[in-house]
This record gives sequence, structure tokens and C-alpha cells, in this order.
Amino acid sequence: MVGLAALRSLWGGAATLEAAPVAQAPLPALALGALVDELERAGHGLVMVMGKGGVGKTTLAAALAVALAKRGHAVHLTTTDPAAHLTATLEGEVAGLQVRRIDPVVETQRYVDEIVARRGRELDEQGKALLLEDLRSPCTEEVAVFHAFSRVISEARRTFVVLDTAPTGHSLLLMDATGAYHRQTLASLGPGVEPKRITTPLMRLQDPALTRVIIVTLPETTPVSQAAALQEDLRRAHIEPFAWVVNRSLAASGTKDPLLAARLNGERRQLARIAAGLAKRTFVVPWRAQPPVGVAALEALGRAAAP
Ligand SMILES: Nc1ncnc2c1ncn2[C@@H]1O[C@H](COP(=O)(O)OP(=O)(O)OP(=O)(O)O)[C@@H](O)[C@H]1O
Ligand SMILES: [Mg+2]
Repeated sequence: MVGLAALRSLWGGAATLEAAPVAQAPLPALALGALVDELERAGHGLVMVMGKGGVGKTTLAAALAVALAKRGHAVHLTTTDPAAHLTATLEGEVAGLQVRRIDPVVETQRYVDEIVARRGRELDEQGKALLLEDLRSPCTEEVAVFHAFSRVISEARRTFVVLDTAPTGHSLLLMDATGAYHRQTLASLGPGVEPKRITTPLMRLQDPALTRVIIVTLPETTPVSQAAALQEDLRRAHIEPFAWVVNRSLAASGTKDPLLAARLNGERRQLARIAAGLAKRTFVVPWRAQPPVGVAALEALGRAAAP
């Protein structure tokens, strides 16, 4: 509902109830299998599934990983999502498919242990205590997660790694850390030193032969705008998204009745949930075949009987 006319249209609609003709033209998009074909061609690589909350990142990361594994490839399906639903989404095992999770708590502990083992030897008790205090800073977690992320990126040189990311903001933080590390590495080489022989994780993310970023969105105005903004963020980091996946498209569903019924049942469950304790009063505006436009249509919405 974007624009004044559309907002006005919330109030009426009897006059415009007849359904709009359904477009018959083929959709300007391919099926997911065609994306699997393209990903498979490289034989390995990092497939990063990104997008806003709830658009279907976990679902699609799992779907792509399963498809690649079923075609006989070794696949690591990894999530950086703190609220990972990956195992619930996958609900089972597939030969060749390994599921892992980058858990910030586990990674931080591992990183701290590593540093203490490496640097603690030369320190006395007080020095050790100082080191541990240093490592309690919030940066430690960011660095530790970044290390784990870097390991995942290098694995993609040999095998398929499908990465189910956390909702956008969190993933961009990880990108920031990757960019900061890249700049620091180059700076530490000093002026005049050719950075030819080093490859930072950011360079791997920018390498189209290794990394393919898949942006997931829903076929709705705001999600598409949000996906476009994410794409711009990635481009600023010189990472060019490989493809977009538009999830939950009714237009692409082909068969209509069972799906619409599932959708309606889902709506009923949500309405019942809202009515059973979330809201004191619940109102519903039907999804009209055509946007209710005009005073009469707006008025009709206000007169509509209870569903
Ligand atoms: N094409 C689809 N048709 C129907 N339901 C779907 C579809 N894709 C995803 N879902 C459902 O939508 C919900 C959200 O999907 P999913 O968990 O994959 O999104 P997400 O982007 O990973 O979310 P989050 O940002 O919370 O990690 C899930 O219940 C999932 O089963
Ligand atoms: Mg998810």
C-alpha cells in the first residue's frame, strides 16, 4: 500500500470487487533448479544467502544445499544466524551434506583458549590476568566470529559451502569486520609492498569465481526495496550479487487451490492467536482483487459486514 491513492483505498471497494484478469505471460524468472545448475557448474564455491528477516534465507540455503548434495557434491551448510532454525528446517540428513553453525559463544571461547595458549606461556600470573581481561572486550566476539567465517570462506575453495546468514544488519557487521581486516592487512605491508601474494577473506568474497551472493526477497514492495538497499551495501563493498530469489510467489505457484487454502488456514490461525490474547479488538480488511480506489470503494470497506 504505497501512495495516497492506495492509502485512501483502504476504506472502500464494493464497486471494484470484480477480479482483475490474471496475467498469462510467463514470469520474468526461472525456477530454482536453474540456479542449482549454474551453481553446480563451478564444482565448488561459497554460496551466501542473504536478505531481510523472515524472507526465507534459511529455507533457501537448505534447499540449495540439499539440491547440490543430491547431485553428488560435498556440501557444508553453515549458519551464522544466532537464532538458527536450520536443523528444524532441514529435519533430516542427506548423504554428503554436513550442517554446522558458527556459534558466537563457542567461537569466542575457542579463540580465547587459542590466544591464552599461544601468549600465556611467556606471562606471569598477573600478565595472564591482564590478557584475560583484555579478551573480555566485546571486540573479541567479533574477531572470533570473523575467524570462523574466514575458515568457512577458505573451505569453499575445495567444496561447496552454503551460508545461511543472519538478517541483514548482522551479516553486514561481519562484512565490515572483513573489510577492516582487509585494510589493516594491506596497511601492515607498508607502502610500496605489492599486495599481490596475499588474499584476504574480503578478496575472496569479491571474487565472482568463488563467491556467489544470493539475495532473497518476497514479491512485495517493501521487501524488494530492502533487498535493493542490501544490494547497494554489497556493491559498496565491491561484492556483486549473483542472483535474487523471489520467495513465496503466488504467481509462480501454478496450482492455486491447495496453496490458497493453506494460506487462508494460516491466516485463520494468526487471527485466532491475535484474538485469543494479543488484541482487545481485532478488525480485518479483506485482500481485494483490485485495490479499493475511490470514495465509494473506501466507504464500502467501512460498511463491510463481519467476515
Ligand atoms: N516458499 C515458501 N512457501 C511457504 N512458506 C515458506 C516459503 N519459504 C519460507 N517459508 C516459511 O517462512 C518462514 C520463514 O522462512 P525462513 O525461516 O527460511 O526465513 P529466514 O529469512 O531464514 O528468517 P530469519 O530472518 O528469521 O532467519 C518459515 O516458517 C518457512 O518455512
Ligand atoms: Mg533464518
